[in-house]
Amino acid sequence: MDLRHHTILITGGTSGLGFEFARQLLALGNTVLITGRDSAKLAATKQLLPQVHTFQSDVRNPADIAQLHEQVLAQFPALDVLINNAGEMRKLNLNDPALDLLDLTREVEINLLGPIRMVQQFLPHLKAQKAAAILNVTSGLALTPFPLTPMYGASKAGLRSYTKSLRVQLQHTPVRVFELVAPAAKTPLADRLGTTSGLMAPDKLVAAALRAVRHDQPEAYPGLAKVIRFVSWLTPQFLLGQLGKLVEKEYGQPQAVLGQPPQTGAPGNYPFFATK
Ligand SMILES: NC(=O)c1ccc[n+]([C@@H]2O[C@H](COP(=O)([O-])OP(=O)(O)OC[C@H]3O[C@@H](n4cnc5c(N)ncnc54)[C@H](OP(=O)(O)O)[C@@H]3O)[C@@H](O)[C@H]2O)c1
Repeated sequence: MDLRHHTILITGGTSGLGFEFARQLLALGNTVLITGRDSAKLAATKQLLPQVHTFQSDVRNPADIAQLHEQVLAQFPALDVLINNAGEMRKLNLNDPALDLLDLTREVEINLLGPIRMVQQFLPHLKAQKAAAILNVTSGLALTPFPLTPMYGASKAGLRSYTKSLRVQLQHTPVRVFELVAPAAKTPLADRLGTTSGLMAPDKLVAAALRAVRHDQPEAYPGLAKVIRFVSWLTPQFLLGQLGKLVEKEYGQPQAVLGQPPQTGAPGNYPFFATK
């Protein structure tokens, strides 16, 4: 798919990968629209990328999505590409009894339900175009559970599954469906988690994603995402065991319930999480 002269809507375009998508797609001669929740970040992005069009909208909120749809189509009826990029990632200790039931599912609402609702809202319009595309940003952590950030992995694995189904259901329409399986990258999201090593530069990552779209490759695995793909296929339990070790390192042993030690087979003794 040629990546010039399109009208492209990117969710979460004020930092990290979304900002980089906006920058590179503007440079290719596209009309680029971005969303975000924070008006100050949208204004700052407009300063850096004066050609970009900004919309304040929260993908977690269906009413915001409906309003965004109305505003965007009124101003940009040629919209033909949707990039579902907005996302959040938190470390969560599921043994913490204070976890709030509403807050617990934030990643699912933003990373999974957000793209699903965006697609459903914009799909009739995209299908009415001569050619259109949807690009969903998943993660290497859609390929393997990452117990330190359990809700994030669940949301991205769900988005990957949904994206594959969407591709099948849209195969006889003008809408192509792409997935970027992103590796860890040097963005504010990674900074907030305290991740410092193995991070891919956002400009290289986004360039690889756009190359895949240009070559009509439905799935892109830049950098270390290729390695995760291979290892998760070859030896998924080993990979889970290695990643699981981070849980005890971060949170320590889970508290025994009612003073009883964890039973064999319970998460604390589960062999893949053993540190020795
Ligand atoms: N960085 C990595 O290591 C990595 C690896 C694999 C996959 N990914 C994925 O890549 C995507 C981009 O991540 P990033 O690293 O670039 O993160 P980032 O730097 O934190 O940027 C996230 C963007 O999404 C926006 N956003 C967050 N929640 C939103 C919501 N509810 N509604 C609308 N916008 C929202 C943020 O703006 P506001 O806060 O103003 O809303 C910001 O513009 C995410 O889907 C992430 O899961 C990242």
